[in-house]
This record gives sequence, C-alpha cells and structure tokens, in this order.
Amino acid sequence: MTLLQLHAAAVCTWMGVISAETVLELMQRDPASRRFIAAVHGWIDILFEGPLVALVLITGAMLLARTWPASPLLLTKVAAGMVGVIVNVICIVLVRLRVKASDDARVLTLTKQIRLTGLAIPFGLYALVVGFGYLH
Ligand code: HEM
Repeated sequence: MTLLQLHAAAVCTWMGVISAETVLELMQRDPASRRFIAAVHGWIDILFEGPLVALVLITGAMLLARTWPASPLLLTKVAAGMVGVIVNVICIVLVRLRVKASDDARVLTLTKQIRLTGLAIPFGLYALVVGFGYLH
C-alpha cells in the first residue's frame, strides 16, 4: 500500500466514523439516552476516531513534505483538511468532558457544542472532493 492509498483509506474510514457518530448524536431523547450516547461516543473516539485523525494528519504531512512546493489547489485542500482535523480534536476534547460530566444540564450544553463542530463537515467534504476529483 502506498502512502497516498493509506491517507485516502484513513480519510474514508474517518468519514464513515463521523457519519455513524452523527446518527448517534441525533438519537438523544432523555437523560438516560444522553448518558449512554455520551459513553458510546467517548469509546468510539478513543478506539477509532482519535487514531484515524492522527493517521490522516501524519500521512497528509508526509505527502505534503514529499510534494512540496504545493500547488495553490493542493494548499486549499490542506487548509480545509486542517480545519477538519483541528475542529475534530476540539470535538474529541468536548466528548471527553461530556463523559466526565455528572449533571444533565452540563451534558446538554456540551452536546450543543459537539453538534456545532459539525459546521466543519463542509471543509472535510471540500478536501475529499478536491483530493479525489482534482489532484490525481
Ligand atoms: C478532512 C481531511 C482530509 C481529507 C478529506 C483529505 C483527502 C485527500 C484525498 C481524497 C487525497 C487524494 C488521495 C488519492 O488520490 O488516492 C488526498 C491527498 C493528499 N492530502 Fe489529504 N485529506 C485531508 C487532510 C489532509 C491534511 C491535514 C494534509 C496535510 C497536512 C493533507 C495532505 C495531502 C497531500 C499532500 C495529498 C497528496 C496530493 C498529491 O500528491 O497530489 N491532507 N487527501
């Protein structure tokens, strides 16, 4: 497997994980379901999302070093990808705080903040479309 294939595989798996988490987040109804979903999302982050984000960043940085100097189009893709990576790290921190939260009001506040991180999804999609559609 080439570095480029590894980067693409990590990116696609990460997008799949984000899709599943989005469904999970939208299923919250009452305090009990909120606590359950907070714990499940927390485990998904530790076992899958955290390692995948790290892999996307490391392989992306290695590809960038190899390709340098980058074209303007690639630079916009990297910038959009970095927005996705940084906002995802913020999301993982919020998810950890929610796992530790003991009262429902705090869980609700953190859930709203976690949903807001979904605003970065278009940036990730831009990086995906440019990466697959226009770079090779
Ligand atoms: C949301 C995050 C990201 C997505 C969706 C994404 C997507 C992609 C895709 C689909 C490709 C093309 C793969 C192929 O042709 O098989 C690619 C290539 C590449 N990506 Fe990413 N990427 C992301 C983040 C990053 C980051 C953070 C960096 C740099 C730090 C980066 C640097 C690169 C480079 C340098 C290439 C190779 C371009 C070339 O050789 O023409 N990517 N990316």
